[in-house]
Amino acid sequence: MSVKVNTNYDNLVKNYLFSEIAKRVKAYTLANPDKKIIRLGIGDVTQPLTKTVIDAMANAVQEMGVKDTFKGYPPEYGYDFLREAIVAHYSKRCNVSIKCDDVFVSDGAKSDCGNIVEIFGDNEILIPDPVYPVYLDSNIMCGRKAKFINANEANLFAPLPEGIDGGNYVIYICSPNNPTGAVYTKDQLEKWVKFAKATGSVIIFDSAYEAYITGGEPRSIYEIEGAKECAIEICSLSKSAGFTGTRCSWTVVPTELMVGDTSLNAMWARRQATKFNGVPYIIQKGAEAALSDQGRKESDEIISYYMRNAKLIADLLKEKGVFFTGGISSPYIWLKTPDGMSSWEFFDKLLNEVQLVGTPGSGFGKNGEGFFRLTAFGSYEDTLEAVERLRKFL
Ligand code: MLT
Repeated sequence: MSVKVNTNYDNLVKNYLFSEIAKRVKAYTLANPDKKIIRLGIGDVTQPLTKTVIDAMANAVQEMGVKDTFKGYPPEYGYDFLREAIVAHYSKRCNVSIKCDDVFVSDGAKSDCGNIVEIFGDNEILIPDPVYPVYLDSNIMCGRKAKFINANEANLFAPLPEGIDGGNYVIYICSPNNPTGAVYTKDQLEKWVKFAKATGSVIIFDSAYEAYITGGEPRSIYEIEGAKECAIEICSLSKSAGFTGTRCSWTVVPTELMVGDTSLNAMWARRQATKFNGVPYIIQKGAEAALSDQGRKESDEIISYYMRNAKLIADLLKEKGVFFTGGISSPYIWLKTPDGMSSWEFFDKLLNEVQLVGTPGSGFGKNGEGFFRLTAFGSYEDTLEAVERLRKFL
């Protein structure tokens, strides 16, 4: 006799993409301890938190050591000061009006992307291919079926809801996109919102990279009329303010978003209250500071630093006539592998021959085969060197 396990896990690829990369890089490092590896694989930031954020966190640390200002459990949906700062951020950055009650502070967009599946029943999901693997994996884990929307060179990796039958989908959209860097225009997002409303679907909009937008494209799905009735938005300070290590994000579930008589806002509130104990006070004070005018100014300088790296890589690809997307309004550069190499072949070649780590496109879906992702999150010096290492393969 034995317990039953969740056999849906049998349907996952064996290792999570970034764990598989880390495993291969570790094996290489152990065998070649003297080689200098440049890591432009996982999208992890390298520049430190800004002064405004650190000062706010340091003050919060002091408060935690004084009886009168000590804090125990944080409120499960976030302190009001941070929820209000997020509401103000939407108003200032993209002229979007949301309410504090719509905002749920969390410890990462990744967690919320994975956990949000719990408030949905057994619907088909509609998911771009390629895309951030967490969307698909977390649905596979609970036995959901996926219909893929082809993102490819022809649609510049920004597919539209054309020729899709059926309805009642949970639709995943990531813009600026991870991994392709493609950014949806307002017209294109209007098509998705119209499709969602016409087919009784709900959009999960991942805006984790909105801070990189430079071309006036929507930073939030709520810039589209009617989106509050059909979309949830997940955003994060990881890439916009360097919080990959300190962990702070939020999910917006508008109270207007109803499925029949059921409020998704009330369901998510119930889920979070039961399973989540909130983000630490010290981190939320840092997050509030990151969203202040001075905090944004300092983070925007770091984003410019990363985008200078992106330009270095993009310039090389242009010079060599390699097809790529991203690198503008996105810290990711998505390039076609040379000589028809598979994504993993190119990964192994770069690692073994020039000690450069990127991310194989096939790890993001079958349409990612033959593509490769580089991030702009390295240091400027490393990126300069990476460009020279890459040059010899293009
Ligand atoms: C990535 O490299 O795709 C991201 O760092 C993953 C993440 O944000 O979880």
